[in-house]
Amino acid sequence: MLAAYTELRYAEKVKQFLLKKGFLHQDHLPVKELDHIFFAMTKKVAVPHAKVVNTKFSFPERQKAVTVDELLKKELTAKEMELLPRTQELVGEILILEIPEELKKKGKVIAEAYLKVNKHITTVVKKSDIHTGQYRTRKVTILAGKKTKETIHHENGIELKLHLERTYFSARSGSERLRIAQSIKPGEEVLVMFSGAAPYPLVIAKNSEARHVYGIELNPEAHAYAVENVLLNNLQDRVTIMHGDVKHKIPPLKKKFDRIVMPLPKTGEQFLDLALLKAKKGAIIHLYSFLDEAEINPYAKKVKQICKKLGKEVKVLRKVKCGQFSPGTFRVCLDLKVL
Ligand SMILES: C[S@@+](CC[C@H](N)C(=O)[O-])C[C@H]1O[C@@H](n2cnc3c(N)ncnc32)[C@H](O)[C@@H]1O
Repeated sequence: MLAAYTELRYAEKVKQFLLKKGFLHQDHLPVKELDHIFFAMTKKVAVPHAKVVNTKFSFPERQKAVTVDELLKKELTAKEMELLPRTQELVGEILILEIPEELKKKGKVIAEAYLKVNKHITTVVKKSDIHTGQYRTRKVTILAGKKTKETIHHENGIELKLHLERTYFSARSGSERLRIAQSIKPGEEVLVMFSGAAPYPLVIAKNSEARHVYGIELNPEAHAYAVENVLLNNLQDRVTIMHGDVKHKIPPLKKKFDRIVMPLPKTGEQFLDLALLKAKKGAIIHLYSFLDEAEINPYAKKVKQICKKLGKEVKVLRKVKCGQFSPGTFRVCLDLKVL
């Protein structure tokens, strides 16, 4: 077999040369012989620091990564393959699948394929319903792997301990959290209403020069995770999490904020009175909602009117689509400036 034969000290140089020129045979592993090494080649060309030889031996095959589709082709019909979920969410080491009704009986086989192919996954679950109730939690069912619903998620330089059923969390909002953090100016005091397990407060504290970030969360279990997560990230000097209903926690607060984040998409606007009460003049409010394209401008107008009725003028700085809730419906953030 055609190969570049070189001394070990030139191995990296030769390999890089072959890779760059596209002559390294990717199906075969290199073979070492004392202080020399052979790289299988696809074409006879001169190689600096190496002799090009024809070996009598054959090279070991490089193991090709198997894909989920390859594994499942043996288990599912062509029609079933078309129904395979193409969007998944990875939270820590747990993969969350949406299994369509037609594939319900194949859920375990599908989950095992994902587990086999992806070394970073230890558990595969399926969504059993959507986020509901005041705490915005949901049920998931374990399909394969370790029997746990708790994991540590890594995002934007922080670690978050989470339980998939006890606290709300969406890995898909990671880039939106970073957007907010990156818009913060040094010294800002930030309030996150509805803080859950503390992803917003921690990403903000870690990725900005905010002076202090406060969070308020109603769900006692999410609050307990938040408190643990603040310590896990060693941010207790700059993040304070409070447990309770924003309606009771916000009015007695002695301070006003430069920025208020309101991540409660379905009913957030009902809490604008509290946000406006504690927003400094010129403060920014990030208000989230689920909206169809056609609803975005009317919603922005409605929010301005709500604020006016509450005695405050706001300017809509941006309407940011920051995720998809369902086909045609977006997670939208209105960036509002309090005038
Ligand atoms: C959509 S989740 C967002 C959680 C978190 N900010 C995140 O992004 O992962 C909304 C959170 O608001 C909390 N919540 C709902 N009503 C509340 C209220 N009146 N006061 C404080 N928290 C509330 C829920 O328990 C839930 O954890």
